[in-house]
Amino acid sequence: MPDKPKYYLTTPIYYTNGLPHIGHTYSTIVCDTIRRYKRMRGYDVVMTTGTDEHGVNVERSAKKAGVPESEFVAKMAAEWRALWDELGVQGDEFIRTTDLKHAHTVQWLFKQFRDNGFVYPGHYTGQYCIYDNAYVDVKPGENCPDCGRPTETVTEANFYFKLSAFQKPLLDWYAKHPDFIQPEARRNEVLSFVEGGLRDLSITRTSIRWGIPVPGEEPHVFYVWFDALTAYLSAVGGPQYEKTGFWPADVHLVGKEIIRFHAVYWPAFLMAAGLPLPKQIWAHGWLLMDSAKMSKSLGNVVRPRPIVHVLGMDALRYYLLRETVFGQDGNFSYDALVQRYNSDLANGLGNLASRVLTMIEQNCGGQIPEPAPGHLDSAASVLRGMFRPTIWMIVGNAATNDTGHYNELQFSLALQDIWRLISHVDSYLVREKPWALAKDNTKAQDLANILYDAAEALRIITILAHPVLPSTTEQIWKQLGQFSSVESQRIDQLDWGQLKSGTRIGMVRAIFPRIEHQEAVERMEAMEKEAQKQPSPVTAPAATPASAPAAGGAAAAAAPQAAPEKIGIEDFAKVEMRVGQIKTAERIVGADKLLKLTVDIGTEIRQICAGIAQYYEPEKLIGRKVAVVVNLAPRKLRGVESNGMIIAATVGPEGRPVLAGFPDEDVEIGARLK
Ligand code: MSP
Repeated sequence: MPDKPKYYLTTPIYYTNGLPHIGHTYSTIVCDTIRRYKRMRGYDVVMTTGTDEHGVNVERSAKKAGVPESEFVAKMAAEWRALWDELGVQGDEFIRTTDLKHAHTVQWLFKQFRDNGFVYPGHYTGQYCIYDNAYVDVKPGENCPDCGRPTETVTEANFYFKLSAFQKPLLDWYAKHPDFIQPEARRNEVLSFVEGGLRDLSITRTSIRWGIPVPGEEPHVFYVWFDALTAYLSAVGGPQYEKTGFWPADVHLVGKEIIRFHAVYWPAFLMAAGLPLPKQIWAHGWLLMDSAKMSKSLGNVVRPRPIVHVLGMDALRYYLLRETVFGQDGNFSYDALVQRYNSDLANGLGNLASRVLTMIEQNCGGQIPEPAPGHLDSAASVLRGMFRPTIWMIVGNAATNDTGHYNELQFSLALQDIWRLISHVDSYLVREKPWALAKDNTKAQDLANILYDAAEALRIITILAHPVLPSTTEQIWKQLGQFSSVESQRIDQLDWGQLKSGTRIGMVRAIFPRIEHQEAVERMEAMEKEAQKQPSPVTAPAATPASAPAAGGAAAAAAPQAAPEKIGIEDFAKVEMRVGQIKTAERIVGADKLLKLTVDIGTEIRQICAGIAQYYEPEKLIGRKVAVVVNLAPRKLRGVESNGMIIAATVGPEGRPVLAGFPDEDVEIGARLK
């Protein structure tokens, strides 16, 4: 079988001084949708996300919390990671800028610049915005023109990158690759910036400590944006990128305010090192709340968790992608969200699914009916004729010159067309009245034809909507009686009539139950208010007296820690831990940290994924007895179901896992740990 074509896409890596709001969630959801779509077109896809953990802002936040920076960022990164996991958008590689392999890539890239004559030492004095991590062109005392927050005057020795040498190569590149920067408005903005002339860029700092050191040039550390952009490369092999085959990236997806870093600095860095350039930079717009960009500093953020709790993740994904024209700003409102939920999801897709499946349950013995011979390829199949051109508009067709909305990242248009198909099926059912035919024995074949067509339409709609609604479409898929997963279907090879007659459908359940509008809005607002009152996950140690000297650096490490909250024995008893024995262990392709294990826990054999691949050889684990948490809800890691957790200690600064075990006693498999 020929190798699958590779596709590499990235989210920006997120600052760790705050937690995700739905603006960040939007960037990640868009990437996740593209990732799923590309997989369904047969690509071998890698999507990376991660955290941007260096810089003065983190240095200060850690100081305020009274913990060392490394501890601060580890906790915050864990929060980001957990949230993406919970939302089902974890990406294939989570890169942290404090990862060792990342530091090596940054240092290696700098060496290429030096070897190629693109760096020189200098000094800089200017106004610095610690929030955007950039020198800005304002006078002392003036605020940052981008985020409006105060700037600081900084004077420091640094190394400069000869950005000015890349004005012409960059302009030539943009001219030769007209689609490099999307959308058009952002391309024009970048072009006029570069045409206006480029000044050399300081890429190291001596005014901050918390960064990747410049080898042999301490106390210089790398400038955060140089550090952060390089994460795209370190995620897929760093200096050995050729081995993974995922560089250059197909698309870097970013918010519009960081386009310059991606479309000017990053390509210039890559040119200076003689590396291939990404194929495209796509800048999306902002989510606005009360007409302003949602941001922590303005205090107008909306978090994803309350929405997911009340309406489900797919509802949030649908709303964000349907309401916002990709590339432009979009407004968020709880009202519009619930309105979309009820009208498009509950009354639209949810209603269609339960209507069609219930009629099959009640009138066809719970099996997909058999259409009359010739029905599928004749003009009798009205729906088929309607579906074809719309499918091409959504996923493209070279023969008809349709590029396809998904391929152009026009998610809102893709969803509008999918929902047009839903209303075609609704009108078809209203016209043909299968419920009336069901009462007339002589019309059994007509009824079978109609319900087959409706179920086939539902199958196609389910596949088309899957990249946006991954979880609910899987549920509909199961209800349609399908054993495979929707994600394994080829979205570009849809053909009418692939649904097999005689298939027994699954249990019919409501997918998007209708929700009372006002009550839903109030619940989400109340949960959001509650979340705002929660302290940051890294808080100052409670025991530090107000008059104690400010903690920082080594002093911070020695500062007394906040007393951890105590739990009662009844809380501990909720965790069911048992002795398990590893039966098989194998690596997971594309996940260099994970092993897939099967573990005998006495009553059954469980599949469990464990993040120990870098430290344990799979063969050596077979037969080993381990401690297993057996009552954790199952979850998917890199697409592999994990049903339990193996207990390990984390040792050393890199958190090396050491499996808990029972070396001295012959403990029984399945014995409970208390
Ligand atoms: N760390 C840098 C990116 C480095 S990439 C090499 C950064 N981080 S960020 O956390 O501030 O923002 C990350 C992404 O979230 C950006 O693409 C940004 O546009 C996006 N969003 C943050 N707030 C947003 C909205 N209100 N709306 C939409 N996206 C927004 O920048």
